[in-house]
Amino acid sequence: MSFHVLVPDNVHQKAIDILEASDGIRVSAPGKLERAALLAAVADAQALIIRSGVTADAELLAKAPQLKAIARAGVGVDNVDLAAATEQGIVVMNTPGGNTISTAEHTFGLMIALARHIPQGHQSLAEGRWDRKAFSGVELKGKTLGIIGLGRIGQAIAARAQAFEMAVIAHDPYLPPEVAEAVQAPLLPLAEVYARADFLTFHAMVTEETRGMVNADAIAQMKDGVRIINAARGALINSADLAQALGSGKVAGAALDVYETEPPPADHPLIGLPNVVHTPHLAASTSDAQVTVAVEAAQLIVDYLLEGKAANVCNAAVISS
Ligand code: MLT
Repeated sequence: MSFHVLVPDNVHQKAIDILEASDGIRVSAPGKLERAALLAAVADAQALIIRSGVTADAELLAKAPQLKAIARAGVGVDNVDLAAATEQGIVVMNTPGGNTISTAEHTFGLMIALARHIPQGHQSLAEGRWDRKAFSGVELKGKTLGIIGLGRIGQAIAARAQAFEMAVIAHDPYLPPEVAEAVQAPLLPLAEVYARADFLTFHAMVTEETRGMVNADAIAQMKDGVRIINAARGALINSADLAQALGSGKVAGAALDVYETEPPPADHPLIGLPNVVHTPHLAASTSDAQVTVAVEAAQLIVDYLLEGKAANVCNAAVISS
């Protein structure tokens, strides 16, 4: 008997190579599947390797009675119904370290693009204009960066900001203060970070507490002319409230890599605003990160299916049960 591992997304070939080289594992890697084909393909799968483009919700899990494990080649497991997985005894694992640097670098790129209007300048020149006045920016040096969520990615951003001579402050209710001290990013109450930061970058998971946290109330507590970056999850931001603040000038600019639904609808209130910089969820999309997370995800599945060893478990209750 061999275990069937389904890889219904574009996961790096190195993951497939690891699975194929493992005795007792049969792999099918059809690439990204339409929903109906996906629901059919999971019927006899014992494991899945997914990225953020696959939604492993209760409907999908119900169609996968043999499923034992899901490995997320990436960090966020908001595309997996953890309660339903736990109920079915499916262990969900992620690869939290693999795309830290790519995400931190992309966030930093967004911050510079925002400070210096790089995409707008590019677009203007591409359209035949030579407009130097319209795109005067601000330096990062001497500015305060507020990092909301000082985990791996937040810490990597702190180090890069310090190299640019920014002052770094942070808010993270779950981080031991000594970790923040070690990276010289003092932890402060959220309201104080909002009041002091010239740039704010968000690196939190979406929970009941954080969903829509960047709303009119929060924005009112921020400095006039603050610049906001989000390369974590779109649902952290109330888009209508942010659009209004961008229109009034309370928020000078925003740089976004993520959206509540992806791709965002054509009438999304933030798309196309002159002071907003966008990328289509690219933060982890580097060849380096995609190799690392794919290899880690494949190894997690091999270890779990063949040896019963689980690591990076996101639904710990399934193990105790
Ligand atoms: C992650 O959660 O790892 C990143 O957002 C990248 C992705 O979803 O593909």
